[in-house]
Amino acid sequence: MATAIVTGGSSGIGAALAARLRDEGHEVDVLDLETGFDVSDPEHWDRVGAVGVACLNAGVLGGPPDPADLELEGYRRAVAVNVDGVVLGVRRLAAVMHPGGRIVCTASLAALTAMPDDPVYAATKHAVVGFVRSAAPALARRGITIDAVCPGIVDTPMVTAPVRARLADAGFPLLTAAEVADAVHVLLTTEGTGRALVVQPGREPIAFRFGNVPGPRAADGEHLAPPPSLAP
Ligand SMILES: NC(=O)c1ccc[n+]([C@@H]2O[C@H](COP(=O)([O-])OP(=O)(O)OC[C@H]3O[C@@H](n4cnc5c(N)ncnc54)[C@H](O)[C@@H]3O)[C@@H](O)[C@H]2O)c1
Repeated sequence: MATAIVTGGSSGIGAALAARLRDEGHEVDVLDLETGFDVSDPEHWDRVGAVGVACLNAGVLGGPPDPADLELEGYRRAVAVNVDGVVLGVRRLAAVMHPGGRIVCTASLAALTAMPDDPVYAATKHAVVGFVRSAAPALARRGITIDAVCPGIVDTPMVTAPVRARLADAGFPLLTAAEVADAVHVLLTTEGTGRALVVQPGREPIAFRFGNVPGPRAADGEHLAPPPSLAP
């Protein structure tokens, strides 16, 4: 019986995650279109059982830089794979995982910064990090952790030839998929939940620190804290 699942595990980062988990003794199920699993299909998630580790990693690019050129089909697909694929996965795992279960979602640096080359991709990855951080408390009550890994540009088939050429011309370094798997290993073996771990070439993985947003002020100038259940 599988002890770990990796979505999008047939290629790139997912293949490296699956290899790393196997090296650590896990029986890994690769859930990929290539293996007949569509992360955007809720019925496919009904087949997933109580694994100890889940890497929700499948993802696709979103579309052109100019929203006027956006085709509906590509937009819907990016939201379905990148957002539904994570939300539906977590919904299922929250119901079946045992306490001690660990979930890591592959977001991107585009979850934390603007990405003018692909605004829809950035929107979906911001959604992943927002979901991970917001779902963490409810999952913690079930003894399950959930984190996001946020890599910069990784040398996988997702990086198109023109982008690859631009990066090479600029001497810009790419991460390897194995380096991302190493960072995920850090998330899986350290305490914490709701983290967004940034991975960049030449740096140790580092948990992103989110700044505080301005809260309301009372008439007397005092800061008003939200009631606990609404607190970030
Ligand atoms: N490559 C990068 O520069 C980079 C950087 C940051 C984050 N990411 C993210 O890492 C993840 C993996 O990307 P990659 O670079 O390895 O890409 P990739 O294209 O090499 O692999 C993606 C895998 O996802 C699978 N997939 C696509 N749609 C699916 C679906 N509906 N159901 C199941 N599987 C599906 C594909 O078949 C493929 O095997 C993605 O979420 C991506 O957004 C990539």
